[in-house]
Amino acid sequence: MKPEKYKPFAAIDIKNRSWPDKSITKAPVWCSVDLRDGNQALVNPMGIEQKLAFFDLLVKLGFKEIEVGFPSASDTEYNFLRRLIEEKRIPDDVTVQVLCQAREHLIKKTFECLQGLPRVIFHIYNSTSPAQRKYTFNMTKEEIVKVALDGIACVKKLLPLAGDCDVRLEYSPESFSNTEIDFAVEICEAVKNAWGATPDKKIILNLPTTVECAMPNIFADQIEYFCTHITNRDSVIISLHPHNDRGEGVATCEMGLLAGADRVEGTIFGNGERTGNLDIVIVGLNMYSQGIDPELDLSDIPFIAAKYEELTGMPIHPRTPYAGELVFTAFSGSHQDAIRKGMAARATMPENAVWDVPYLPIDPHDIGRQYEGIIRINSQSGKGGAAFILENNYGLSIPKPMHPVLGEIVKEAADKAQRELKIAEVYDCFSKQWLNKTEPLSITDLAETHIDSPAGKNADKTVACRGVILWKEKEYAIGGKGNGPLDAFVAALKDTPVPRFNITSFYEHSVGSGSDTSAFSYVQITFEDGRQTWGVGKSSNVGRAGIEAVVSALNQ
Ligand code: KIV
Ligand code: ZN
Repeated sequence: MKPEKYKPFAAIDIKNRSWPDKSITKAPVWCSVDLRDGNQALVNPMGIEQKLAFFDLLVKLGFKEIEVGFPSASDTEYNFLRRLIEEKRIPDDVTVQVLCQAREHLIKKTFECLQGLPRVIFHIYNSTSPAQRKYTFNMTKEEIVKVALDGIACVKKLLPLAGDCDVRLEYSPESFSNTEIDFAVEICEAVKNAWGATPDKKIILNLPTTVECAMPNIFADQIEYFCTHITNRDSVIISLHPHNDRGEGVATCEMGLLAGADRVEGTIFGNGERTGNLDIVIVGLNMYSQGIDPELDLSDIPFIAAKYEELTGMPIHPRTPYAGELVFTAFSGSHQDAIRKGMAARATMPENAVWDVPYLPIDPHDIGRQYEGIIRINSQSGKGGAAFILENNYGLSIPKPMHPVLGEIVKEAADKAQRELKIAEVYDCFSKQWLNKTEPLSITDLAETHIDSPAGKNADKTVACRGVILWKEKEYAIGGKGNGPLDAFVAALKDTPVPRFNITSFYEHSVGSGSDTSAFSYVQITFEDGRQTWGVGKSSNVGRAGIEAVVSALNQ
């Protein structure tokens, strides 16, 4: 490593910056650049049919400005825009944006492509940073300004070719964040004036972090400086276009909004050159988590994600905020316990109660995600996790004092498997341990009779049971009486070699409905030597479930 090869980004000379005291209170104007910046970064760029489907998706999500491509750059881009226009796929409240280099034949071709379109954002750009000026263009600042102004003059000259199309201008000083801030203001000022922007004919000045080069607070200073130094601020829409080279695209965008930007360009799930463009889904849902309407419909993230993956061929990383497979999942025991308790508390609150479940920044249901995946089981998981899985997927209310035993069993299985356990495997652990053990004790035959006491109807009923059990592979005939089937069965075991015990805890509930109902009983028994075990019984008959639970506890 050679840190001496690099130098820190110079701070912006700004006094009394105001952005740190601001907060985001409303959604910006969103512009999707998926079909241009995102598409150009795909290993296999989308074809026309895929682009049409992607456009429809963006419209469905509520984007009102959509950059559709670079129509003068290829037949696909050109024909795609023609299809959008000819098939009338652009809703009245949506404006498409086209990118073009400021060169006469390219502008002509783009205007030709716009025929029949009622309005457009015409986006031109040139690069302004010292490195681009020096290495790519070998031009002075004055020459770079001239390139931009020549471009504007050319667009203005060719404007009649756009016919009835209402053309709004967007100018990007590409590599803005690497450009000396005073020069960025100077060139944008010149472009704005050349275009003749007014409050009724606003120009979009798009300030890209073409390559992220500094911390987001520096970027916020750049934006605040720009917003306070550009003249006729009411004739200008300040737009952000963050990329993500330092992994700070979202923070850059949010701080840029604090600093005065009005508009944001980005892509869904952050597709784009190198580390990608700004992920608009994250910024939108971050706003949502603060009680702000993002003005995008992000209520079905699984659908949006599946469509995105299908159309771009790009996978979404499982840790991607909000959309990743694992982002609402807790493996760790203490997290699971807190989520389980938070969710249980929530079940007793009014539906619109403010969300405060630990470890879940938003309610997964709000974005179309399910609770099932919230808690998953691996060797890091704790006692509450397995109980949550059994409750949520099988309706089993495992008694709280039984959670530690269940947790240990499941944890051991995950540790042995050296991987996450599937939901069915968690149930398997439970059922192997408590429902399917027949040794040393099993019931071969059991019948019960209800005996009416001579004292009449109001007196307690007595239950007598008779049957045959197998204990350590030897058969015993049993018989006993009690105040219920379970009591009678326990009494009947007293004349066998089965060790003496008392029932010290008992819980029961039913699962299912109608003829499909099963009763589940959970018992804890305490032997004479103080040893305790838990057992579980399942049966269509409540009394029998209790008996099965005692057998299960004796087989531990
Ligand atoms: O990242 C960038 O600078 C761009 C421009 C063309 C706006 O995509
Ligand atoms: Zn870009």
